[in-house]
Amino acid sequence: MSAPSPFDSVDAVGTALAEQGYITDTRLATTVFLQTRLDKPVLIEGPAGVGKTELAKVLAAATGRRLIRLQCYEGQDETKALYDWDYGKQLLYTQMLRDKIGEVVADATTLHDAVERIGAQESVFFSERFLAPRPLLEAVRSPEPAVLLIDEVDRADEALEAVLLEMLGEYQISIPEVGTFAAAAPPYVVLTSNNTRDLAAALKRRCLHLFLDYPSAERELEIVRSKQTGLPDALAEQLVHIVRGLRDLELRKAPSISETIDWARTLAVLGADELSAQLLSDTVSVVVKYDKDVDRAVEVLPRLVDPNAEVPDPNGHHHGHHHHHHHDHGDSDVDGAAARAAKDSPGRFDEGYYGTPSGKPQRSAVNAGQGSRSFARRRAL
Ligand SMILES: Nc1ncnc2c1ncn2[C@@H]1O[C@H](COP(=O)(O)OP(=O)(O)OP(=O)(O)O)[C@@H](O)[C@H]1O
Ligand SMILES: [Mg+2]
Repeated sequence: MSAPSPFDSVDAVGTALAEQGYITDTRLATTVFLQTRLDKPVLIEGPAGVGKTELAKVLAAATGRRLIRLQCYEGQDETKALYDWDYGKQLLYTQMLRDKIGEVVADATTLHDAVERIGAQESVFFSERFLAPRPLLEAVRSPEPAVLLIDEVDRADEALEAVLLEMLGEYQISIPEVGTFAAAAPPYVVLTSNNTRDLAAALKRRCLHLFLDYPSAERELEIVRSKQTGLPDALAEQLVHIVRGLRDLELRKAPSISETIDWARTLAVLGADELSAQLLSDTVSVVVKYDKDVDRAVEVLPRLVDPNAEVPDPNGHHHGHHHHHHHDHGDSDVDGAAARAAKDSPGRFDEGYYGTPSGKPQRSAVNAGQGSRSFARRRAL
């Protein structure tokens, strides 16, 4: 049975999340609203630092729900995601029950017979008492509905994705030895992905999908304002545009919202009353974290600050050990639209990410059997 939706309109979502310090736009608020109405998981994809994880946190805060988090990583299996058996507790019980177990096998005549008798008692030790719940089972068993964050699901292996399907589709988890746990009230599930690989169609199909990109200038300014960085408003507005200019460069790692906020705080602490190319260059390592990106940013900053600025000879800035530089200082440097378009062409992520048919999947497709096969493996232990 589903809990009543805490929001009666899309606007109510925007307001409630804003109260938690999270600025939405209509698309984002609509997705969250639908999630609470349709009881569907939301899959949020997008670059780093655009507020994917944060959304789950503020959704929990705004609805008064507990946040349960599953951080995904490579090599993770269902014993870390769903549940495991509490081996220590099982061992402790068998030791304390040594006498009783002795009675069970007392009149066994052969080893085989003794094993059979122990086997008949197995269900005692593979029962709910000895379950060690992991985040997914915890979310399903939670007496109060929760928010379940499945963070960076693209880092997990595809086998784990298959394990998620039952949970995402039916809000239930089957444990062969025990039975099926179904959520009393479905959790709000938020999955996030950085698009390091394609997710299985079966997983996508179960989710509402939202691509969260860098915010518009207005929304980013609103976010910076809401963080009370101490930077005067006019400068914050200028800064937001400069960061957007940096995003349009071909940087290895484009600055994210949190970096804009950090930069604003940094400049405020330094008591900036205007944004000079010099000041920005001196602090640019707050927003770009790779050596080459720093060089590139320093090169372009004067023009981002003042489009008519004379750009000094870039060689003056460079350290000797970099050899690979663009020396074309044509408009392409700051022509945001063009740079963005180039970045957004297929091939930036995996083939197929943009929905273009891409022949064979890069890794073997997930099938529903993978989950139960690994259960079988464990049962055999
Ligand atoms: N809409 C927003 N309103 C307010 N703050 C935001 C918003 N979006 C992002 N932020 C700020 O940006 C920070 C980074 O966001 P978050 O950690 O959620 O990014 P992410 O998309 O999960 O990134 P990653 O892919 O690196 O995990 C947040 O801690 C928050 O301060
Ligand atoms: Mg995150």
